[in-house]
Amino acid sequence: MAQVVLVFVMLLVCNSLPLDGGLHTARLQLTRSDVDFPRRELHGYGVDSSSNTQLLMEGDGLIYAGSGQLLFRLSFQAEYSQGQMHETLCTDSECGITVMQPGRDGYPLFVCTATGDQTTCCNMAANGSSSGCVSDFTRGGEPALLIGDALYTTYSGTGYRKGVYRSHRGTLVAPSGQVDQRYVKIVEKRNRDSPLQDKLYAFYTEKSLDQGPESDIYIPRVSQICMSDLGGSKDILQFQWTSQLIGRLSCGDPSRKLYYTELLDVAVLPSAPGEADRVYGLFRNGWQMRAVCVYSVSDISHVFSTSAFTIPTDSLKERPGKCVSDSQRLSPDLLKYMKNGPEMVDWMKPVDNRPPLLVSHRHYSHIQVDHVGGTEGQEGHNVLLLSMESGAVHKVLENGSDPFIIAEYHPFQPGTRILSMLLDSSEKKLYVGSSGEVVQIDLRNCSVYGDQCADCILARDPYCGWDHAHEKCSPYSQNTIQDVEDGEFGKCAEDAVSPSIGGDKKGDVDTVDISKSSRHYLPCPVESHHAVHRWLRDGEERPSLMDKEQRQLVLLIEDMGPDDEGYYRCVSTEGDYNKTVAQYFLRVSSGGQGLRSCSLALAPLVLMALLLS
Ligand SMILES: *[C@@H]1O[C@H](CO)[C@@H](O)[C@H](O)[C@H]1NC(C)=O
Ligand SMILES: *[C@@H]1O[C@H](CO)[C@@H](O)[C@H](O)[C@H]1NC(C)=O
Ligand SMILES: *[C@@H]1O[C@H](CO)[C@@H](O)[C@H](O)[C@H]1NC(C)=O
Ligand SMILES: *[C@@H]1O[C@H](CO)[C@@H](O)[C@H](O)[C@H]1NC(C)=O
Repeated sequence: MAQVVLVFVMLLVCNSLPLDGGLHTARLQLTRSDVDFPRRELHGYGVDSSSNTQLLMEGDGLIYAGSGQLLFRLSFQAEYSQGQMHETLCTDSECGITVMQPGRDGYPLFVCTATGDQTTCCNMAANGSSSGCVSDFTRGGEPALLIGDALYTTYSGTGYRKGVYRSHRGTLVAPSGQVDQRYVKIVEKRNRDSPLQDKLYAFYTEKSLDQGPESDIYIPRVSQICMSDLGGSKDILQFQWTSQLIGRLSCGDPSRKLYYTELLDVAVLPSAPGEADRVYGLFRNGWQMRAVCVYSVSDISHVFSTSAFTIPTDSLKERPGKCVSDSQRLSPDLLKYMKNGPEMVDWMKPVDNRPPLLVSHRHYSHIQVDHVGGTEGQEGHNVLLLSMESGAVHKVLENGSDPFIIAEYHPFQPGTRILSMLLDSSEKKLYVGSSGEVVQIDLRNCSVYGDQCADCILARDPYCGWDHAHEKCSPYSQNTIQDVEDGEFGKCAEDAVSPSIGGDKKGDVDTVDISKSSRHYLPCPVESHHAVHRWLRDGEERPSLMDKEQRQLVLLIEDMGPDDEGYYRCVSTEGDYNKTVAQYFLRVSSGGQGLRSCSLALAPLVLMALLLS
């Protein structure tokens, strides 16, 4: 008996804290049993668990997915709707899709397939028929960008080809070097007033050559290239970039010299369509910690045009890296200088020199960022969507360096690897791809927050607000209220017609008759993982057991007797918000009802409790 008491005391202590250490946990967990995520399978010859899945948007709920040798056009508008197809693009077992880009000349798609070094790139119609094919050079798993007739892509690794290169419109490659580079993203920055100044930014991680004990293994980098670059003269840098400058990204705590140096993924938040404004970098350090830092493209461009160079430029008449109309006529001195890969002295710092806006021990691997509009005159909010190697996705509110994890989605079977994410910002839908499936997550599904105003406001989800007229947590609009900054649910009472703040449920107390000396369990569903849940008997706290698997707090009655009779209430407390989540009235009965409300799912818990007693 002493053991049982001890176990309960331990459990009681644990339950006084929210699950897994408070605000670093997602407030809400949404699995396949909570939400019916629309999903489309990627079935076909050549698609297996090792296939990479690339996603591209056509619009109106139509998605292209490339996996292995197959191209799928998936429709999420309705179940089994028209317009779905899949097409085998090549048959060689070594062959695979390497590049998928939004098409040009009226074609929805531009696709490259490669077998070894043999690449073919084609325009593609929605029915999968291709035209205008050219041979090229591309590798799978590398970032790419099709701008007009020029395809920009990258080559990671140590080979002589590594770097950014352009094909179709005068092939250009990077001057060779020995360092290992892994490319993550190519971002364009157009200049409407002067197309000559159009630039590209390539984000990558470089292995450090300096392998001293104090030095980082990786260096996060960004390079800048002029789109107008035509390569060098016949003698120097012919068919190679003459405008490429190299910089270093900084993400971490400079005062403690603690940096996140391995760049894993980059997301772009446009200020207007096609206008890259903010760049979000997802980094990792040597201790498997992740951090997200945000940069302004203008700041990066500013460093490239003002910083000193690591190699002195005294002998040069002009500043290296300027965009010119004919780079083949640049002076030999400048071309020779560019051959060495000029690097900036200043680092690229985050916006306002801020610390990371998120630091986490979760194994995030991909990032997407969305902007969600606020009410009139307000700026709105940014939401980060971070996928984990374990198959979950976090929806995170950006809030200074104090992020708020709104929800954790589990769209797949546990253990499924997420290979790609695609955000449809106009429809507020997120698509996540594994090797065998594409799943749609509706970011504006506000019914997941329940049917009470306080729960809706506490969610701090910028996509959602409380609609008093319809008494519903609804997609955010002019007619809804929200408080994304603080989750202050007092707002619910202010403009309420009939106050429906939520909180204590009146009435509806189930009376449960339990036979004498039997064992009984009372479940209390855990809705918010930021709340503390407690079981109270006639106002006094009772020991209980957290069942994380089933997301419930369980009160165990070992041996039902007259002392156990009474009113039991499970209360959740989140900040100032107390809510009765479950309540029962227990009575000793003469008849045998025993384990009536003990679900099968509790079996492991029951077993554990028995073993320990
Ligand atoms: C929205 O959420 C509700 C409640 O969790 C769920 O039943 C429903 O399937 C969801 N709908 C969509 C489209 O995700
Ligand atoms: C596919 O679409 C293209 C362009 O829309 C059209 O020219 C072609 O005839 C179509 N092919 C088939 C097999 O339907
Ligand atoms: C971040 O959230 C806290 C509450 O958790 C709030 O007090 C603060 O104002 C927010 N900061 C920003 C920059 O939005
Ligand atoms: C919520 O419950 C706690 C613990 O019982 C209590 O201290 C607090 O005053 C309650 N808050 C409100 C607003 O009722």
